[in-house]
Amino acid sequence: MAVTGVILIGFVIGHLVGNLQIFQHPDHINGYGAFLHGLGPLLWAARLFLLATAGIHIWAATVLTLENRAARGTAYSVAHTIQATLSSRFMRWTGVVVLAFLLYHLAHFTLGTAQPATFKENLPHYTMTADYKIAGFPVVPAGAEVLDVYSMVVRGFQHPLVSLFYVIAVGLLSIHLLHGFDSMFQTLGWRSAKWANGLRRVAIAFCLVYFLANAAIPGAILLGKVRVPAAAVQEASTR
Ligand code: HEM
Repeated sequence: MAVTGVILIGFVIGHLVGNLQIFQHPDHINGYGAFLHGLGPLLWAARLFLLATAGIHIWAATVLTLENRAARGTAYSVAHTIQATLSSRFMRWTGVVVLAFLLYHLAHFTLGTAQPATFKENLPHYTMTADYKIAGFPVVPAGAEVLDVYSMVVRGFQHPLVSLFYVIAVGLLSIHLLHGFDSMFQTLGWRSAKWANGLRRVAIAFCLVYFLANAAIPGAILLGKVRVPAAAVQEASTR
């Protein structure tokens, strides 16, 4: 549970950092999207690894839930059952909501079945105005025609209900992560009396920043701070 949790935390942090490029010139998130998809088999290997990790995470959660249930009723466990049951039940439900969010999210931005009209494959291609560089290396050249991930995300979040769903789901994910950190520190034996409070504060700060940074994306789009460039609007309307 802890090991798969660490891997999934790594993914959501990396994914957030990638998505925050929405606040820069469209070249950035569009170049990033083109670079990721240009990885071909490597991208699929990463996807399969993530899928397997998420699968093992859910399997381990199920096994632990069943073990807890089987253990309940022994004299020893009554006292700590109340507290453990509440937070693990909370973890289960936030986990289920996050899974539902993920299925919608993949239908939204990866498969394009949730909002076909705004899906990147159905939008005019975007022409890179400058090289997109990673660690100083140009990985997508200026002039390249790439999928317009920028317009897809902006148009996708211009629907208040969609944005609200994302904010709620990311909020529950952040709470799930907070409990996850606690159990992970416990499993790794880091939650000694000396460290517990400090680690808890670090976990709360991390989850708060994670939530606010994710919520800032649909928030800024709904407030009109991040918009589809006029050229893309023009071109889309002539299609
Ligand atoms: C406001 C928050 C988010 C935004 C703006 C966002 C944006 C995106 C975009 C644009 C893509 C498609 C990338 C592409 O194929 O070009 C994507 C894919 C994905 N997102 Fe998110 N995402 C957000 C939150 C999340 C969260 C919280 C999770 C995990 C719980 C997540 C998991 C994924 C996964 C697994 C994919 C598929 C990656 C692939 O194609 O291999 N996203 N997201």
